[in-house]
Amino acid sequence: MYKIVKKNEIGLRVHSYEIYAPEVAKSAKAGQFVILRIDDKGERIPLTISGVSCQESLVRIIFQEIGKSTSQLALLNEGDYIKDFAGPLGHPAEVKKYGTVVAVAGGVGAAEVLPIIKGFKKIGNKIVTILGARNKDLIILEDELKQESDTLFFVTNDGTYGTKGIVTDVLKDVMDKENINLVYTIGPIQMMKSVAELTKGKCIKTIASLNPIMLDGTGMCGACRVTVDGKIKFACVDGPEFDAHTLQWAELVSRQNLFKNLEKISLDNFRCNGNCKCHKN
Ligand SMILES: Cc1cc2nc3c(=O)[nH]c(=O)nc-3n(C[C@H](O)[C@H](O)[C@H](O)COP(=O)(O)OP(=O)(O)OC[C@H]3O[C@@H](n4cnc5c(N)ncnc54)[C@H](O)[C@@H]3O)c2cc1C
Ligand code: FES
Repeated sequence: MYKIVKKNEIGLRVHSYEIYAPEVAKSAKAGQFVILRIDDKGERIPLTISGVSCQESLVRIIFQEIGKSTSQLALLNEGDYIKDFAGPLGHPAEVKKYGTVVAVAGGVGAAEVLPIIKGFKKIGNKIVTILGARNKDLIILEDELKQESDTLFFVTNDGTYGTKGIVTDVLKDVMDKENINLVYTIGPIQMMKSVAELTKGKCIKTIASLNPIMLDGTGMCGACRVTVDGKIKFACVDGPEFDAHTLQWAELVSRQNLFKNLEKISLDNFRCNGNCKCHKN
């Protein structure tokens, strides 16, 4: 069992948990993730390791309430326990000296990109971060991202914070002004796909960190299958980072939507059983 030592709501329905997990904390590297289960009947939830405190043996996860399992996770409190917390999983991010690295993140992707840019910055890369969100309430980790970035841009769809528009509007400007050596993108699939299309035209190396549907996290079930450069890969063991220019985006989009109806039913049932916050409060 894994104890929730600290809990904070850092954005609208976005939560930061610090979990006491010495084994994971000891070996986690930037870009890796855990798969947790709340209880015996719980679904497996993959979440990126956003940070660790080795001294305190704490692992930080940041998640957005999006469906049944993440809503259920959000109802837990400091002092509560999570049944399983398996990790670190996946390959660590390939952090090396490129020169200028532009990190493009969307929504809760800010939490996922933070340890990556920290790693890139530490070895002397110049970091330009572009963070996009639907609105101001969903902008998270501003101070921490600022600390790790040479330049930080915010973009909101409704213009409530930073530039009004989408991340690729700002990326276009940065591409005009900077000599970019790497673009690293993480967030919603459509956003990463648009980033990849833009950078492909200018032959800028682009890595996407993918969040496909995962079940076992061991390469056995096939749930997280993607096609990269014509070859089948499993994001949980071969990724989650892949070359964004040779990834088959259409396949990823369609596989991500496979269970939409069931996910909706599951969330509706969960809420009808009085589990949503409005019923609790
Ligand atoms: C490697 C990896 C790292 C991730 N890191 C983060 C993170 O740091 N923060 C965060 O908020 N989210 C992260 N996610 C996404 C997170 O796992 C899903 O939001 C969560 O599983 C949704 O579960 P749900 O029951 O609440 O929603 P559901 O209603 O079941 O699903 C909502 C949507 O979430 C996605 N999803 C559902 N089940 C899974 C699953 N088993 N694996 C992956 N995606 C799923 C699908 O797109 C689905 O349409 C990560 C996913 C992966 C694969
Ligand atoms: S999650 Fe089962 S193969 Fe990757």
